[in-house]
Amino acid sequence: MKYFLSAVLFSGLAWAESPKQAAIASAHPMATEAGHRILAQGGNAFDAAIAVSATLAVVEQQSSGIGGGAFWLLHRAKDGKNVMLDGREQAPAKAHADMYLDENGDVNRDLALNGPLAAAIPGEIAGMEHLAKHYGKLPLSVSLQPAIEAAEQGFPAYPRIISSIERKAKILKRYPASTAVYFPDGRVPTEGQLIIQQDLANTLKAVAKHGKAGFYEGEVAKKMVQSVQQHGGIWTLEDLKNYTVKEREPITTNYRGHQLVTASPPSSGGIAIATILNILSAWDLTQMDLEQDRAQRIHLVAEAMRRAYRDRSIYLGDTDFVDVPIQLLTHPYYAAGLRASISPHKALPSELLPGISDNPKGEDTTHFSIIDTMGNMVSATLTVNTGLASGFIAEGTGVLLNNEMDDFSAKPGVPNAFGLTGDDANKIEPGKRPLSSMAPTFVFSEDQVAVLGTPGGSRIITMVLLGLLDYFDGHDVHSWVSKPRYHHQYLPDRLYTEKGAFDQATIDALTAKGHEVVEHKGQWGNMHAVSWNKKTGAVDAASDPRTTTGSAVVK
Ligand code: GLY
Repeated sequence: MKYFLSAVLFSGLAWAESPKQAAIASAHPMATEAGHRILAQGGNAFDAAIAVSATLAVVEQQSSGIGGGAFWLLHRAKDGKNVMLDGREQAPAKAHADMYLDENGDVNRDLALNGPLAAAIPGEIAGMEHLAKHYGKLPLSVSLQPAIEAAEQGFPAYPRIISSIERKAKILKRYPASTAVYFPDGRVPTEGQLIIQQDLANTLKAVAKHGKAGFYEGEVAKKMVQSVQQHGGIWTLEDLKNYTVKEREPITTNYRGHQLVTASPPSSGGIAIATILNILSAWDLTQMDLEQDRAQRIHLVAEAMRRAYRDRSIYLGDTDFVDVPIQLLTHPYYAAGLRASISPHKALPSELLPGISDNPKGEDTTHFSIIDTMGNMVSATLTVNTGLASGFIAEGTGVLLNNEMDDFSAKPGVPNAFGLTGDDANKIEPGKRPLSSMAPTFVFSEDQVAVLGTPGGSRIITMVLLGLLDYFDGHDVHSWVSKPRYHHQYLPDRLYTEKGAFDQATIDALTAKGHEVVEHKGQWGNMHAVSWNKKTGAVDAASDPRTTTGSAVVK
């Protein structure tokens, strides 16, 4: 009862205390700087979010871009409104359930991932216009200026984008406009070499002048459609003109006195996090974070993850097309049923959970978190799907198109690039938005507010979850982004860990309980988080130490 009451009291309220400074954490210093520049010009967190999104679209194209989509979770201080802006890509009108199946009924992975047939209609520009019109204080022409400059003057190539270009080289070289941007002297750029994108600057200028119409109509739209169709895609001018951003009610849930506000469908992120936290709420995990109990804590968290990802594969899809039992999946009684099936001693093999039928990967996608001095907040996760997306830049526009169609289930039970399987709820249909795992999140506690999220494909949900559990354990923002990570996604039935996340004794204890523990060679994610202590007004920010370009600045 106490928890319920405190959660009700926090929700929808604007606080008397304001943050003493603004904080922005993003994946690139030029993007963080762009956000602070717009704040200094009189913008609020929402204007800053446009500047950060647009600059990331120029300097971190392996992760997000104006040819992709995003979920911006917003908190408006003046009335306490929480809303999720859905700028997710959507399937073109000519898309159909079998579009990636070959004559044998097998999924053609090349078509599903590479080139313009893999691209859904982008949503990022529509989202930015909506942010400026309905939440910001400045015109798009001002908020887009840092991104225009970055495209026109160039940005220095850095190791992460260089390795993305190397990995995608064969695909990028199929398309002349992609080759011109990513192989400026006929080869992969060297570290520090400027990557200049004049066509992209011109497209951003058209948006600065005409708003959404500068992208979805007129010359840019014509060039994109022509180029897409010339290379085997199915977009039409109507697909672009018909795209609209949607305001969605976020998923809210309470966990031991904290109120969470997080992503709703077409993301699975918020529902899965709510299910997992509801299952775990019966145990005092903080008490279990001791040497002798750590394996038991990991076992319980992994079992909760398994069950939530099983539900994801069966029930979740775009709620404009399918009925998703959101109330059921986020209800504490439903979680109690799932919890009852968890043995403290043994892992339950996924095949014993009724469902449908490798290796998840993907650090592509990006996240940023912002809080301004009025207490407005933005938690935004943006994506083009896999690294450098479809590899296809539409000629004359500089727009690298997403490959978000692969987030649909191309065939029931057949895994996508993240090893995720799905069923009819997430089958391809015209105008439908593919199921996402992105999970931009706010937590409102009695004396603190947290804003966090991360890229990482199917692991986004579990990374945000582990960040949240660390917050609930009482640690600070620097710890949430650094904590070692592990992941279970129902199928494949394995407990994945980052390199070195568990010591041998923990691995042995988990193996004895029946978990197949698989340690990856590398690390995952790129979390960017900010916090606000409401008692003192202090804000703090942190970027994931796993990548070198993360940039968290308080000023
Ligand atoms: N494209 C990754 C996601 O939306 O989950």
